[in-house]
Amino acid sequence: DTNFKTKILCIGAGYVGGPTMTVIADKCPDVKVTVVDINQKRIDAWNSEDLPIFEPGLDDVVKRARGRNLFFSTDIPNAVREADIIFVSVNTPTKTFGRGAGKASDLQYWEKTAREILEVASNDKIIVEKSTLPVRTAAAMERILNSNDKGLHFEVLSNPEFLAEGTAIQDLFEPDRVLIGSHQTKSGLAALQKVVDVYAHWVPRERILTTNLWSSELTKLTANAFLAQRISSINSISALCEKTGADVDEVAYVMGKDHRIGSKFLKASIGFGGSCFKKDILNLVYLCSYYGLPEVAAYWESVVKINEWQTHRVLESMLEKMFNTIAGKKIAVFGFAFKANTGDTRESPANLVVRDLLAEHAHPVVTDPKAIHDAKRDLADVLDQVTFEEDPYKAAKDAHAVVICTEWKCFTELDWKRIYKSMAKPAFIFDGRNILNANALREIGFEVSCIGKGVAE
Ligand code: UDX
Ligand code: UDX
Ligand code: ADP
Repeated sequence: DTNFKTKILCIGAGYVGGPTMTVIADKCPDVKVTVVDINQKRIDAWNSEDLPIFEPGLDDVVKRARGRNLFFSTDIPNAVREADIIFVSVNTPTKTFGRGAGKASDLQYWEKTAREILEVASNDKIIVEKSTLPVRTAAAMERILNSNDKGLHFEVLSNPEFLAEGTAIQDLFEPDRVLIGSHQTKSGLAALQKVVDVYAHWVPRERILTTNLWSSELTKLTANAFLAQRISSINSISALCEKTGADVDEVAYVMGKDHRIGSKFLKASIGFGGSCFKKDILNLVYLCSYYGLPEVAAYWESVVKINEWQTHRVLESMLEKMFNTIAGKKIAVFGFAFKANTGDTRESPANLVVRDLLAEHAHPVVTDPKAIHDAKRDLADVLDQVTFEEDPYKAAKDAHAVVICTEWKCFTELDWKRIYKSMAKPAFIFDGRNILNANALREIGFEVSCIGKGVAE
């Protein structure tokens, strides 16, 4: 233990904390990294062959570092006691009650964590906000931590995570930038340097950006809001394409060639999902209202509203094509994860699609290569009305329609002739991700609808 130069602790072993700490441990053999969680099952899984989250490449890195300088544990007090730097990446869901319900972040897990740290700490520590938090959370944390009678000093930093699920390991190995915010005081800057030193093990120094605390917190919210806004913008245009005969993929491709616009994050879809975009925008909306900026709040809220509208359009399109009724019809939902290459289903548009189908008394059958487990959890309240099927061929058998909700590559590799033969006729496909070859499917006999593809005249 004395061999380690620095001891890092991460509280919260989720989608952010787990992969991030794994990569830090891999890249910094001189640093001891411990990840703790209150959830014993999650920690057991991190210590097993069957990790709690699916992320391409994660298994190998965990195996390299685990037991060497990477440890997963539920012994929070001991881990806190020995740590120099504590990253906090506990969940910060949207509040479901009280003031700011539906928009503000529920900070109870964060505050609980701060109090737990305070209770057992016996020396000064650096506390790093890793979870996305509303701006000025650091101030609240500092007050709780520094109002102690032990004479201890806690320096709070913000180090937002920009990794995207499905590419987490790659994003962590070669980040566009690492952002660390601190107070511009002597102790703030000293703490900042310690965290910079950790990342400097593998990230080129010019990519490690440092700002004041509030800029750092706000950058994370804003980056996600801008990314989501691009998707909402192109999705709004997809609806116009369907009316006019334009093809949204062509429009986006050519638009993206203007380097001021850029080509990334312009893929029209049934809507964005995931744990960050909606939550962070609503947070931004709440902040703007709180600070008396209702116009700014309304501007950003529209990004979320049009996203939900876009997802509901799938049902509209189905009703229109399927003779205005899907009652009693089996509908195969292909994909429940919020995007490909993850088993995560948080805020997945597929959830809304399934509920829309149920409202029309259809019989949804959900298939997904990685997300059936979480899908069952998310649909717990309607479990008796939904069927789950690992095998996509079985899911589609006798169905009137297939709806593609997640852009899993494996869906493009299916034997669609075989699927066509097994389905009710006419057989409909609604490709909510524009991943299938629509013309080839039409030749087989399918009635195909895509996002943002009008009928050219
Ligand atoms: C624009 C488009 O850029 C061009 O491709 C199209 O052919 C015609 O319209 P223009 O209106 O000449 O060109 O100027 P542009 O540089 O785009 O600036 C438009 C306005 O936006 C200006 O008032 C400019 O000051 C402002 N602007 C631009 C900003 O306020 N901030 C920026 O970051 C960029
Ligand atoms: C996002 C941010 O990208 C990441 O930087 C931040 O740290 C966390 O939030 P993530 O939610 O994991 O990451 O996935 P992302 O790849 O951003 O996709 C979000 C949603 O947008 C998915 O549902 C995806 O399918 C959808 N999407 C993305 C589109 O519909 N079109 C696109 O062009 C890109
Ligand atoms: P994210 O996507 O931000 O990583 P997750 O929900 O995947 O969010 O992970 C957050 C983790 O934090 C969960 O595993 C949860 O059990 C854990 N957690 C929440 N509160 C505490 C706490 N007080 N102490 C330790 N772990 C906590």
